Amino acid sequence: MRVVLRIGGSVIASPINPALINAYVDLLKELKRLTHEVAVVVGGGALAREFIGVAKDLGLDERSQDEVAISVSRIFAQFFLQKLEELSCEAVPLTIEDAVNCLREGKIPVMGGLKPGMTTDTVAALIAEQLDADLFIKATDQEGIYNRDPRKHADAVKLERLCFEDLSRVFAESKHRAGIHQILDPEAVKLLKKGRVRVVVVNGFEPENILAAVKGEKVGTLIEQKRKLS
Ligand code: UTP
Repeated sequence: MRVVLRIGGSVIASPINPALINAYVDLLKELKRLTHEVAVVVGGGALAREFIGVAKDLGLDERSQDEVAISVSRIFAQFFLQKLEELSCEAVPLTIEDAVNCLREGKIPVMGGLKPGMTTDTVAALIAEQLDADLFIKATDQEGIYNRDPRKHADAVKLERLCFEDLSRVFAESKHRAGIHQILDPEAVKLLKKGRVRVVVVNGFEPENILAAVKGEKVGTLIEQKRKLS
């Protein structure tokens, strides 16, 4: 199976969690042993936001703030690369093409951000589109997608599965609540929908959830194409 794994900065970088990074490295080795092809995209989380704050204080514009956040995400990608040694590519891919080539060479590409104004969700979705991936996994800091923001509403219900159209509705409803954390960037969702990629959102603090998702077990929230009524 061809998998794109997007690991939230909220999971490995907020605060930096070396034990968890090591657990992910073991997981990637296991996926490789099981003959799966995996491309990884990591974010910079709280550390990236801290650097964005510094850039702001320095009077730098948004583009420069983004560039700094991208650099931070690439440092996390580098940790993976160094730990994976010959299983990964020689350097952090700086383009989608580099990541795709790395995977085609039988390696595990691990990349961070790509360009200002984007999110790492979109970077991962672009890779999934290029690779015609079977599965896109978002490892995040929640158990999956909820009908309302679980951090604000104790009665929020986790959705087991939904289609892309339902997801747009959940996003639309939460949009006017300022500052809500979008579990998946709508831009990425658009690409994944178009590419007909299956998406699973799981709690990334337990890397075994990723293995479960790859095995097709019920975990987190599954987003799929609308099934035709027969
Ligand atoms: P993300 O918000 O995509 O990563 O990027 P994250 O830290 O993993 O987020 P969680 O854990 O899912 O919440 C962080 C910031 O990096 C810049 C943007 O400023 C973005 O808000 N960035 C990232 C870019 O400008 N371009 C990219 O391609 C990626």
